[in-house]
Amino acid sequence: MNDDELTEEVLRAHAGAADPRLRELLAALIRHVHAFAAETGLTHEEWMAGLEFLTAVGQKCDDKRQEFVLLSDVLGLSAQVDKVNAADGATEPTVLGPFYLPGAPHRAMGAHIGRTGDGPTTLIRGRVTDAAGQAVGGATLDVWQNSANMLYDVQDPDQPRFNLRGVFTTGPDGRFWFRGVRPVSYPIPADGPVGDLLRAAGRHNWRAAHVHVIVAAPGYRSVTTHIFDAANEYLADDAVFAVRDSLIKEFRPAGPGDPADVQFVVDVDFALARAEGA
Ligand code: BEZ
Ligand code: FE
Repeated sequence: MNDDELTEEVLRAHAGAADPRLRELLAALIRHVHAFAAETGLTHEEWMAGLEFLTAVGQKCDDKRQEFVLLSDVLGLSAQVDKVNAADGATEPTVLGPFYLPGAPHRAMGAHIGRTGDGPTTLIRGRVTDAAGQAVGGATLDVWQNSANMLYDVQDPDQPRFNLRGVFTTGPDGRFWFRGVRPVSYPIPADGPVGDLLRAAGRHNWRAAHVHVIVAAPGYRSVTTHIFDAANEYLADDAVFAVRDSLIKEFRPAGPGDPADVQFVVDVDFALARAEGA
């Protein structure tokens, strides 16, 4: 039996899956893993080392740590899934990451999302529109970011819960504005098997500085995205391949026309695509 005959036999064994999408996914997975072993001449030792690595990834997972998602992130699979699912005319999506907390407080437009001592106060403002540029009122922006000490509130016992997080709702003109701090680069967790993989590959574990945003509105596809600081040193080699040119924004030093408490201003718009059937 040659390689192709084996692959065909395994494909036939899975061809009876009742769900057509499962059938399609299984067939593609089988073709790709068989091609991987054949192309690389995978040895038994390498095959077992790979399985032991995946076992260690699973053993590192608990209710707070999801090492499989981190593995997907550092291999660029999460970014690829985002790309495959991006909607035409909408803001580009990018990874959610492990530090999202549902249930952040709704805040008044213009409010600071955390403590002013956590970094230089930054005014982030813009408009939510549809893909044709028409204002979307009633859109929510669920925002979270890290502090100048590089940590999110969930990583830092010295930050109050929901520090540097907030939800804002646009008015009929689609406009929003809020205050945060200028984000800083930070290292993704490297104390598990994914960290071992990064070191073996000669890679660093730094993320380009960013603010996370989930933009949602009734009748539209929500988008999970980032605002990246144009001056950051890791834009070209973000550890999880999440940077898109369209998401890079200038953090402009505030001038005489800006509010007195603000040190940087960022202008950023978000576009949403209509939900299917809406
Ligand atoms: C984050 O941006 O919070 C993040 C994304 C992927 C992996 C680790 C952290
Ligand atoms: Fe982040």
